[in-house]
Amino acid sequence: MKKLNMLYEGKAKKVYETNDVDKLIVYYKDDATAFNGLKKDVILDKGILNNSISSIIFKKLQENNIKTHFIEKLSDREQLVKKVSIVPLEVIVRNYAAGSIVKRLGLKEGQKFNEPILEISYKNDSLQDPLINDYHAIALGLVERNELINIYDTALKINSLLTKMFEEIGIILIDFKLEFGRYKGEVILADEISPDTCRLWDKETLYKYDKDRFRQDLGNVIEGYREILNRLEELR
Ligand code: C5P
Repeated sequence: MKKLNMLYEGKAKKVYETNDVDKLIVYYKDDATAFNGLKKDVILDKGILNNSISSIIFKKLQENNIKTHFIEKLSDREQLVKKVSIVPLEVIVRNYAAGSIVKRLGLKEGQKFNEPILEISYKNDSLQDPLINDYHAIALGLVERNELINIYDTALKINSLLTKMFEEIGIILIDFKLEFGRYKGEVILADEISPDTCRLWDKETLYKYDKDRFRQDLGNVIEGYREILNRLEELR
């Protein structure tokens, strides 16, 4: 597969065209941002760890019949993926209270919800990804109703699979963000699943192994990400 022009550069990844019009190469950078780009840093080797972690998770999801854009890991920082057209929504699944919902609803961090909470945000940097509901998403034409039903159904299936997988390695899946894309008439899982996009706490000590280490200046950011990769590798 030949890597051609860069199509897009995001906060944590670069995307390149390839000689196959249906396929892209995603390159994982070491850049970290938080609070809608207000906090920035470079975390050495983060891209390598996130590429490995996301590749393991996407493979696992595919083995469990979740359709994703992932084709293969090409190198330490690169993945070959299907070229999707991204649905401009961030889909958040929450099992325990943490992050923005704690502030918004005055909750206690770590509180377990009676059932998973699904939220959607409009993916728009200049508006800082505002939280919206199904009516906004459909009325604004961001997504078709049947696509949204399918996205929610898939997000809950992914939550069940990943909750179980992380539990096996002593990790609580607190919450995570998903993105979906359209590919040949279907909506499939896209983007990444990594400590940048999940909250992952140790089951025994409640130690945080995710991007909150960066957001909250807790230190040992890369060590947290490495611990997640090490434990995931035990699974195989
Ligand atoms: O910040 P908030 O609590 O709403 O985030 C919920 C989950 O979604 C967290 O795991 C966070 O890492 C992830 N997220 C993300 N990208 C965003 C917003 C949230 O990966 N733009």
